[in-house]
Amino acid sequence: MRVTLSVIKADVGGYVGHSGVHPDLIETVKEFVGEEVKKGSLSDANVLTCGDDIGIVMTHHHGPDSPLVHGIAWRALEKAATVAKELKLYGAGQDLLSTAFSGNVKGLGPGVAEMELDERPSEPVIVFFADKTSASAWNLPLYEMFADPMVCTGLVIDPKMHQGFTFEVLDVQTGRAVLLSMPAELYDLLALIGATGRYVVRTVWRNSDGEIAAKASTQRLSLLAGRYVGKDDPVLIVRTQAGFPAVGEVLEPFAQPWLVEGWMRGSYHGPLMPVSFKQAKPTRFDGPPRVIAAGYQLANGKLIGPVDLFDDPAFDRAREQVLVIADVLRRHGVFEPHRLSPEKMEYTTLPQVLEKLEPRFYEA
Ligand code: F6R
Ligand code: MG
Ligand code: MG
Repeated sequence: MRVTLSVIKADVGGYVGHSGVHPDLIETVKEFVGEEVKKGSLSDANVLTCGDDIGIVMTHHHGPDSPLVHGIAWRALEKAATVAKELKLYGAGQDLLSTAFSGNVKGLGPGVAEMELDERPSEPVIVFFADKTSASAWNLPLYEMFADPMVCTGLVIDPKMHQGFTFEVLDVQTGRAVLLSMPAELYDLLALIGATGRYVVRTVWRNSDGEIAAKASTQRLSLLAGRYVGKDDPVLIVRTQAGFPAVGEVLEPFAQPWLVEGWMRGSYHGPLMPVSFKQAKPTRFDGPPRVIAAGYQLANGKLIGPVDLFDDPAFDRAREQVLVIADVLRRHGVFEPHRLSPEKMEYTTLPQVLEKLEPRFYEA
């Protein structure tokens, strides 16, 4: 059975500040998409939150980039933004950059990850959802899930994975993309995606049969808006088991924290903290950046789940390490390497501050 899984997310107002989502907004979105499921426009829908972002997980038969499905998500988020404005929540409507929906939410502010697949006899998928960071946060875990046999042992042991995976890497500065086949072109892949500020993994396919394996949202909100309106707080869909990495192989990269861009004012490096749904409220220095993992079994287009996959003491050590790293980085205050480099700060509000000093510079 052919089914499309679409995840569309946006920050339409924070509670309190940029830390969380008010329950009324979640209810509004749930009610709206629930009606669309009843009408039959969607097979199923589920609402997730991470930090101040709402993610709408939808299954349907309209394929990726469907004006109908994007329209549903847009209207649901618009309704939530209206509630956010009534409650005077923080940054109400901030990710809905346009007032007119024109058939596709891409370029309008919300982040999107979609994949069309033939639902297998059993189809376990994981939706990752992060706050206070950007899509490049997935580069390292996607490499470990689909190209590093020391993490994903299935690459060695499962015959269906033995031919490796192909990565689509997007150059966010030029908008061009390149396909690289693993393991043959592993070093080329790492040469690119190690540069997280410029190259972002968007799609992963299985080499043996071309099946889609993973899809990330790669919208760059700061570049879209022309002025800084926050990081894009990405989502990632990963298929698992029976020829794809096992659930545990997909989650394993998150057991050891690494540094991502984002955190306070989108201006810092910080460790990505894998947390339960309940803990996805970044409050220390607006962080540290968080990631949740929502597990679903698809059943004839229905979403069975979610299961809160990081709600597991096995990730306690990662969370503790995050706190240690956070202390070391916070010690740097506004100094690099905690703070981002000047080029990356161009996409924040800092240039407005520096403008004032410009006339006072002289040839030295
Ligand atoms: C980062 C983020 C927050 C805000 C910060 C300042 O992505 O959302 O860290 O940047 O709270 O917010 P404003 O400028 O709205 O006061
Ligand atoms: Mg916000
Ligand atoms: Mg956010």
